[in-house]
Amino acid sequence: ATTLRAAAAQAGLFFGAAAGPGRVNAFFSSEFGQLTPENDMKPDAIANANGTLRNTGNADTLVNFAQSNNMLVRGHTMVWYSQAGQLQGANQSTLNTYIGNALLRWGNKVAYWDVVNEALADNNAGTRRSQWPHTLDRDANGDGDYFDATDTDYIRDSFTRAKQVVQQNGLSTKLCINDYDVEGLTVQGGGRNRKADALYDIVRAYGQGSNRLIDCVGFQSHFNDNPNSIITDDLQANIQRFADLGVEVQLTELDIDDDLSNNDIGQGQAENYRKVVRACLNVTRCTGITVWGIADSESWRASERGLLFTGSNGNYQKKAAYTAVLEELNKG
Ligand code: G3I
Repeated sequence: ATTLRAAAAQAGLFFGAAAGPGRVNAFFSSEFGQLTPENDMKPDAIANANGTLRNTGNADTLVNFAQSNNMLVRGHTMVWYSQAGQLQGANQSTLNTYIGNALLRWGNKVAYWDVVNEALADNNAGTRRSQWPHTLDRDANGDGDYFDATDTDYIRDSFTRAKQVVQQNGLSTKLCINDYDVEGLTVQGGGRNRKADALYDIVRAYGQGSNRLIDCVGFQSHFNDNPNSIITDDLQANIQRFADLGVEVQLTELDIDDDLSNNDIGQGQAENYRKVVRACLNVTRCTGITVWGIADSESWRASERGLLFTGSNGNYQKKAAYTAVLEELNKG
């Protein structure tokens, strides 16, 4: 196949990109089979303080574009400590109202929703201190779990509400938890990735079996162009252990810095992309990959040249990384 979309479909997964309304066009839908609104479904864009929706025009445009082009949509995101907008400090009851409204606004037009984003703290600290209440024990009792049944937890409460709305309305939307620095089993330089372990504990607690609250796990996958930062077996093994819990895994915000100091004209970056794509392809329940934008110049980390195209504004040129991803997808 000659596009990422078609090659991925043949391999049994989706390949998508994050975008705003100004970036979706015939090029986008030919190259990508899935769309994540980069900013237009965040609470700061569409939530009122009482949990109702406002200004959904951009989000509607993106969802309608995806619909007319047979693309999947990942809703991003409902409950996030950052960019909470008018939901900053909202109580669980208001969060629940918002979750219901967001789910019902687009229904099955949204295949995956990031219900909770970036709930985990960096530096082995378990869950992140945020505006929402939880008393997750940070393994205070030394039982090896960050979670105990008695803990107060906005994560569980938010997924409980989302699942209730899905079931009561017969939706097929899958409910995901999404985070960064959870991709590898170990961290760069060695040692256990405790953040990944904390996420695993959440999913194990809430995501197994037919009564599970969590259907899917997003590894954001903002990587560096240091070969050591992507350890193929490690990434694949970590994807696999989540998949073994019965949830889908997706790489949801993929970009990989191009280390300019090595003057390798993007070859190291291309090889890193290849490894990441291969790790997902090798796990059956790794069902999709989304790059966090189209062209380097339009990326949130533009100076690091982490994406698959150069150029801008619809005039895009493929990088070595693009060719590597396409080749790898075509191997299946
Ligand atoms: O649209 C306004 C514009 O009107 C205004 O003039 C300008 C001035 O700063 O800001 C523009 O909004 C910016 C928006 O991106 C659109 O460009 C916001 O300030 C800026 O904060 C926002 O950054 C986004 C960031 O999330 C925060 O929401 C990035 O585009 C987006 O790529 C980034 O995505 C996050 C994921 O949601 C979660 N994981 C990490 C990832 C990267 O940070």
